[in-house]
Amino acid sequence: MVDVTLTINGTTVSRSTTPRRLLSDFIREDLGYTGTHVGCEHGYCGACTILVDGEPARACLMLAVQADGLQLETVESLAPSPDALHEIQQAFQDNHGLQCGFCTPGMLMTAKALLADNATPTEEEVREQIAGNLCRCTGYSQIVDAILSVGPVVRETP
Ligand code: FES
Ligand code: FES
Repeated sequence: MVDVTLTINGTTVSRSTTPRRLLSDFIREDLGYTGTHVGCEHGYCGACTILVDGEPARACLMLAVQADGLQLETVESLAPSPDALHEIQQAFQDNHGLQCGFCTPGMLMTAKALLADNATPTEEEVREQIAGNLCRCTGYSQIVDAILSVGPVVRETP
């Protein structure tokens, strides 16, 4: 077993884990942040996208031990309260940017990273940023519209 200490959504946690434990499984099953979805587990679908030190990363392609000492943000970090949505979440709702919702946590975190670096992206830039996040439902247009509608978002490191 290996000790891992990391910060997730502003809370520092320590756990013992096996050396080959995937970060996606560690987040969901050991830490209880089940908002991060797991689809392919091979780095293709983007459903497991979280932010690692502010940058999008596929949690299924990292080992938990590789996140030792790092700052993670999952979809649970977005909403300011149980009764309110983050402005990116609100934009997805307003623009019908989700149907089944399976891709949505990864899409939201990818969008947050884009908007933190580029508050006014072009449609082409949005499409390029979400190219690694697969959605089987929406046809992408509504997701692109949602992200374009958000406007400036300040990068927040919890
Ligand atoms: S579950 Fe990680 S990329 Fe598909
Ligand atoms: S909303 Fe169903 S996969 Fe994107």
